[in-house]
Amino acid sequence: MDLMEAIKGRRSIRKFKSDPIQEEVLQKVMEAVRWSPSWANTQCWEVIVVKDPHGKSELAKTLAKGNPAFSSMTEAPLVIVLCGKKGISGFKKGEAATVKGDWLMFDTGIAMQSLCLAAYGQGLGTVVVGLFDHKKAEEILGVPQNAEVVAMTPLGYPASEGTAPKRKEFSEFVFYEKYPEK
Ligand SMILES: Cc1cc2nc3c(=O)[nH]c(=O)nc-3n(C[C@H](O)[C@H](O)[C@H](O)COP(=O)(O)O)c2cc1C
Repeated sequence: MDLMEAIKGRRSIRKFKSDPIQEEVLQKVMEAVRWSPSWANTQCWEVIVVKDPHGKSELAKTLAKGNPAFSSMTEAPLVIVLCGKKGISGFKKGEAATVKGDWLMFDTGIAMQSLCLAAYGQGLGTVVVGLFDHKKAEEILGVPQNAEVVAMTPLGYPASEGTAPKRKEFSEFVFYEKYPEK
């Protein structure tokens, strides 16, 4: 698949078939996380694959009922939870190297995009889920103190395609030489 075609064609999928995902296909998706760029190649990401229906249902309960991804959490055969180890990305000798502090959100964000694109390339659907009770999810998954849950996605074969929400025009976000004056 052409790269731009993949970037533009990937949609958030919220309706899934229950068809299982073969191990080799899942491996390809994980390979995309593995080869993502990260701060000084620190690779702070950690991935939890949740297949157990009870586990998926417990995780679904961490979403507000109004979250449009709520039912997809139990519909899809898998939920992938992206975690990050704290104090690694953006740190040098234990000190934050920039005013931004921990770059964990940035690195796991890139990894999530790699995952979503690779999944799309395999005919699978994803929807990044960020709006949920992170602390509850960490308890359910037994995430240790030195790591945190960042985002999740259901992973499965789409039962219906998503429609593309409107994007900003280039003129609204691409500036030349300097930030525009108000
Ligand atoms: C960081 C992040 C958090 C998101 N959280 C949710 C969420 O909690 N529930 C949901 O249904 N979609 C969520 N989304 C999906 C966005 O709504 C979606 O990506 C956006 O509307 C653009 O649509 P597209 O992915 O089809 O291009 C999230 C996306 C990102 C990047």
